[in-house]
Amino acid sequence: MKNILLIGSLLCLPASSVFAQDKLPEGEGKALVQKVCSSCHGLDTALEKKHTEPEWKTVVDSMAGRGAEATDAEFDLIVKYLAKNFARPGA
Ligand code: HEC
Repeated sequence: MKNILLIGSLLCLPASSVFAQDKLPEGEGKALVQKVCSSCHGLDTALEKKHTEPEWKTVVDSMAGRGAEATDAEFDLIVKYLAKNFARPGA
């Protein structure tokens, strides 16, 4: 029984990360977002809502509080990348 569960999770993981990678626009910070923001939840969960730059800063700060690991400079880059590529229209 345990083996079946193990195989199931091995099959799911690569599929979801390939999907997330394809969706991200190119740009400085992309690799960081992939590395830092996909360890607890899928990137599609993280990026389905768009935010203004101050809102992204709040989100990223709160993820840092939950345990996301990057330096301050890296978090800055992540916020800029998200604000540029996943900006809320009209903001
Ligand atoms: C240490 C684990 C962890 C990491 C790393 C992480 N997150 Fe999260 N994130 C969570 C958890 C847990 C939730 C669910 C929070 C909830 O239900 O309130 C979440 C939820 C979210 C949400 C939905 C927020 C909301 O308020 O509805 C967004 C957006 C998000 N994360 C973005 C990011 C981004 C961007 C990064 C990279 C900087 C990141 N996350 C890295 C743990 C993490």
